Amino acid sequence: MNTLTVEAAAAPETTLPLSIPPTLSRVVLTGFMGAGKSTVGRGLAAALGWKFLDLDDLIEELAGISIPEIFATLGELHLRRLESRALARALRLPHTVIALGGGAPETLTNRLLIEQTPNTVAIFLDAPFPTLFDRCMLQALNPSATARPNLADPVLAEARFRLRHPIYRRLARHTVDTTTLSLASTVPAIVALLQTSK
Ligand code: S3P
Repeated sequence: MNTLTVEAAAAPETTLPLSIPPTLSRVVLTGFMGAGKSTVGRGLAAALGWKFLDLDDLIEELAGISIPEIFATLGELHLRRLESRALARALRLPHTVIALGGGAPETLTNRLLIEQTPNTVAIFLDAPFPTLFDRCMLQALNPSATARPNLADPVLAEARFRLRHPIYRRLARHTVDTTTLSLASTVPAIVALLQTSK
């Protein structure tokens, strides 16, 4: 495969001059399922005039099958290997907002890749587990939504959330609490944080 599925740079949505540090080249959005990484990522890319890449989409492209099919036929360990390969490719792209899958930061390799890639800032989209779970249940009502196998058992899902929460926090330069924030206010909040990033 020679090309990555990267969504083209969108026309900036704001006319305000943005003083993003000139060396900044990638924003990585992290957080649990339902945090809004893909939706916020698209909005952020549009605000910055950057490209957007959803890591789950790239994994599916590498595997040639969907994430639920990878879980069912190859297993989660295989998914995690594909995820690391996909992430290494994604982190080579300039001026790109990358939305991780919720489990990506659990893998040490992925954390090291993100931390050691220059000009890259990770942002944690945070919310309490019940909020995230409810959002995912609402999304699942949409017939075109991709299934989330790691949400099938709510008790195990909450245990994963507790395990991952400190990992997300440590990885990220900034945490944005999205519990009550709409997309319209989350994107400007992140842009404001990026303007202070060195
Ligand atoms: C997963 C999250 C999913 C996807 C896969 C596993 C997880 O991504 O990578 O189903 O273990 O949390 P989203 O966080 O985008 O739903």
